Amino acid sequence: MEQVRRDFESVASSWDSNPTRLQIAHDVAAAIMREVRLSPQMDVLDYGCGTGLVAMQLQPHVKSVCGADSSPAMLEVLKDKIATLQLDNVGTQLVDFERGAHATGQYDLIVSSMVTHHVPDTAALLKEWMRLLKPQGRIAFADLDTEDGAFHGDNTGVFHLGFDRTRLRELLLAAGFDEVRDTTATVVRKEVEGRPRDFPIFLIAARRR
Ligand SMILES: C[S@@+](CC[C@H](N)C(=O)[O-])C[C@H]1O[C@@H](n2cnc3c(N)ncnc32)[C@H](O)[C@@H]1O
Repeated sequence: MEQVRRDFESVASSWDSNPTRLQIAHDVAAAIMREVRLSPQMDVLDYGCGTGLVAMQLQPHVKSVCGADSSPAMLEVLKDKIATLQLDNVGTQLVDFERGAHATGQYDLIVSSMVTHHVPDTAALLKEWMRLLKPQGRIAFADLDTEDGAFHGDNTGVFHLGFDRTRLRELLLAAGFDEVRDTTATVVRKEVEGRPRDFPIFLIAARRR
């Protein structure tokens, strides 16, 4: 039986008004640009792009970016940005691989920020990404280090309370990736029960073997 998913439809229109989300996306995009050499020949897929906060920062540096997401409302916000800025190198795809709606295309780089904790089966997601990568293509994804559930507070649709980087490295190697590297992309400070708490967010980059 499918587990209860988080509702991203109702939060899409206000997604970009949260400064923490903007900070995370900014720092994750910066970490991606440090870890992966972007080039004007590259086709990039932002998996779980949301409103395109990361995709929009990468697009000036690459040939194309496709934002893929399972939330139509999130993609509508991104489509508005594309139309307003008249961008011809950014596209969107409505995807949901767990329900059989697979992304199409072949990419030099797949990026993803704060998505993997919303997908129950990480190995299945890595397999999906592997299918979408060109030979020697790379992935670079960001998510929380292991935490105790305090980051979201309401953990509906949160299937992993962060990740252990060593365990992820093993999963990546088993899925057919090499050149696995991890770095800390940013640290989010949040008030939890009246006290400041730090939540580190990693970026893991790897290459299709
Ligand atoms: C926490 S948001 C992050 C959005 C964006 N990456 C950002 O940094 O602002 C997670 C996003 O992943 C999407 N998502 C969750 N599960 C997904 C799946 N199986 N396939 C594609 N997108 C998914 C949600 O719709 C949502 O837009």
